[in-house]
Amino acid sequence: MLQRSATRWARTLTVLGPMLTAVLLASAPIGAQAPATPEPTLAPGPGMELTMQRCVICHEAQHITRSRLTRAEWLENTELMIKRGAPVAANEIAPIVDYLFAYYGRNDDGSARPRPAGAAAAASTTAPSAGGSRDVQTVLATYGCTGCHAVDRKMVGPSFKEVAHRFGSEAGGTERVARRIREGGAGAWGSIPMPPHPAINDDELRALVTWVFAQR
Ligand code: HEC
Ligand code: HEC
Repeated sequence: MLQRSATRWARTLTVLGPMLTAVLLASAPIGAQAPATPEPTLAPGPGMELTMQRCVICHEAQHITRSRLTRAEWLENTELMIKRGAPVAANEIAPIVDYLFAYYGRNDDGSARPRPAGAAAAASTTAPSAGGSRDVQTVLATYGCTGCHAVDRKMVGPSFKEVAHRFGSEAGGTERVARRIREGGAGAWGSIPMPPHPAINDDELRALVTWVFAQR
């Protein structure tokens, strides 16, 4: 993984124009302030859903979560991504850049910016409340599931009710859904991928799957 990203990094630097190189180099020293393990998914908050849909198509969310850029650099990055084919409409640039800067920003002097205080609270208020034990709610919040899923409406991913209806009475449904949660995947519900969650342990996974199937 490290080696792969190192290779990509080298490729990126040689292949892309000086503009991206400047952006990447500018962000390099701040790597130290980024989380040691890049978060596999974008942080829940205003604009996250749109940013997921427009940006996490060609590459993983880690490209974003390991970066810390100034507002001007995020704007430059977004414009570059549009040149590379990101399907972002003109009026979507501002909300995406606002989101990126709020959650993955740094100040012009290079110092770190704290995450918006509402982020954790937002995650817990959007957590599905129907019939979940506190433990499962904690797991859902810990892994950011509720940034993309709700119990009974489609968000970035399908609602948990839809998943329960579709796979609840299917042979092998439990194993399928468990594997999907841990390994991620795409194509069953649309073109947006679900990120993998390799850190989920067996107990958490069992609790999640049981809970999802109880949402019918
Ligand atoms: C059409 C495909 C595509 C889309 C959509 C896309 N990108 Fe990219 N992105 C790339 C390519 C290609 C690279 C450079 C090669 C690489 O590192 O994989 C890149 C690199 C990056 C990098 C540098 C990452 C690093 O750590 O090396 C960031 C940050 C980034 N993209 C953010 C975004 C954001 C924000 C959006 C949404 C506005 C977005 N991308 C949408 C194709 C895309
Ligand atoms: C970044 C957004 C995102 C996050 C975070 C996320 N998911 Fe998903 N999830 C999706 C998308 C998108 C799909 C649909 C993928 C597809 O079309 O195959 C999906 C699909 C699913 C499915 C259906 C699986 C199947 O077999 O088709 C389940 C169950 C699920 N997610 C549970 C979870 C759980 C539990 C978590 C937290 C551990 C989580 N998701 C985190 C976006 C996300």
